[in-house]
Amino acid sequence: MIPQPVSVGPADGAFLLDSRTPLDAPKELDGVASWLRATLRCPLPPGGGGVGLRVDPALRPEAYEVKCTPDRLKITGGSPAGVFYGLQTLRQLLPPQALRRAGPTGWRVPAVTVTDRPRFGWRGVMLDVARHFMPVADVLRFVDLAAFHKLNVLHLHLTDDQGWRLEVPGWPRLTEVGAWRSESMLGARQHVRFDGRPHGGFYTADDLREIVAYAGERHMRVVPEVDMPGHMQAAIAAYPKLGNGFAGGVRTGWGISSHVLDLGPESLDFCRAVLDQLCEIFPSELIGIGGDECPRDDWGGEDRQPAFTALMAAHLATRGRRIYGWDEILEGGAPAGAVVAAWRGQEPTTVAARRGHQVVACPDIVAYLDYRQSDDPGEPTPVGTRLTLADVYAFSPVPEGLSPAERELVLGGQANVWTEHMDSARVVDYLVYPRLCAFAEAVWDAPDRSYASFAARLPEHLDRLDALGVNYRPLTGPRPWDARPDAPGNPRDRSDRLAELAEMTKRLAFENPV
Ligand code: ACM
Repeated sequence: MIPQPVSVGPADGAFLLDSRTPLDAPKELDGVASWLRATLRCPLPPGGGGVGLRVDPALRPEAYEVKCTPDRLKITGGSPAGVFYGLQTLRQLLPPQALRRAGPTGWRVPAVTVTDRPRFGWRGVMLDVARHFMPVADVLRFVDLAAFHKLNVLHLHLTDDQGWRLEVPGWPRLTEVGAWRSESMLGARQHVRFDGRPHGGFYTADDLREIVAYAGERHMRVVPEVDMPGHMQAAIAAYPKLGNGFAGGVRTGWGISSHVLDLGPESLDFCRAVLDQLCEIFPSELIGIGGDECPRDDWGGEDRQPAFTALMAAHLATRGRRIYGWDEILEGGAPAGAVVAAWRGQEPTTVAARRGHQVVACPDIVAYLDYRQSDDPGEPTPVGTRLTLADVYAFSPVPEGLSPAERELVLGGQANVWTEHMDSARVVDYLVYPRLCAFAEAVWDAPDRSYASFAARLPEHLDRLDALGVNYRPLTGPRPWDARPDAPGNPRDRSDRLAELAEMTKRLAFENPV
């Protein structure tokens, strides 16, 4: 099973699970029970003596126990989420055919006792739907697959220089203009190639509500992000007054735009309106404001970002929300209560925790799934440092040297799926799987997990991914048709990147804001 449970005790015999098996569950598990019926394609009529679902508040909320004997299958969780994880484990106890969407039902569940709980409460994955728009149905499938691996946070990166993907009342040009670009860069920016093909799309409020509800049924929180005050060229293309009158279009090349919000009264009002709309749609207490990679050229070199971040945090506080931002928000001091996504190596996780911020570790050289999976020249658009399955597996969110209180502030980890070079769900599958399986096991983090054991369990798990229709990267490497000779990459060396990250985060090491 992946992620590896804390303890698995096999026993003798098997439980027969078929369309006549009764299901007994309390009212509070109605949602989990209907998800189970739909997922297994079994009616599971209400009644005792078959599958029993229970909540036991003595367990931690996401903990669960599966007890399977030849005459009873009992799944107990600390909350509905715990029961849901027990049922995801049950799906992995069944043959892979049980994961298909149609076909015969009726399976033998091997007798077993599984006792399990995650180490980390934030087991996240970020999906960038700005660089390439992903249709709702594909996002829902992405959620299903992440939930299958017991991840519980979807961080949705909704806007960037290259596209604005949500409607905001009163600002129609964001989606009329900002959601579309005339063409896209092909491959890494060093090659300056373009595809000559328009691209775009956006989500209506109902689309986003569907994603939130669907994820909620799978016990995943959706944390939305609108990146500000940089990575804003799409919005500025729609409303030039927000950015010193910049008159260009939505950015077609990758990389970082120097056209950022001017931070005048109107752009501050704009940001507040956007955040209000996020609060309207997303129940998440955390609202992402981005904050990464904001050039100061447009501000005459002055660093106005910390004051901006404080204003946005104050605005969200009036709605009972807190900000979630990339680790650049630590520069000059982040507002109290801000949660940090630490991406520039490991140092920002340490700095955030030492300054009393809750922090989610997502260092690029371990957790950026757009980075190439091997040195094979046939990898599609190889960018970033080499990030093998074993490298991802080695991820541990908590850096060395933190005090026990600081360690508590590390909520967990998140894998980030930046989609410059992923123009379809098919390519996302290739870059994300099976590395997200390794990541999921790393953040579930059973005490005796090991890469050797993971690697031994993986082939069986790939049979499950086949049944689920996932276009994962074969363990033997890319197939000839995975290569993108039309979209060349820019592979990086790990030691060069580490030096670059040290330079990028130098400021954090020197300053000591309150
Ligand atoms: C980031 O990779 N710019 C957060």
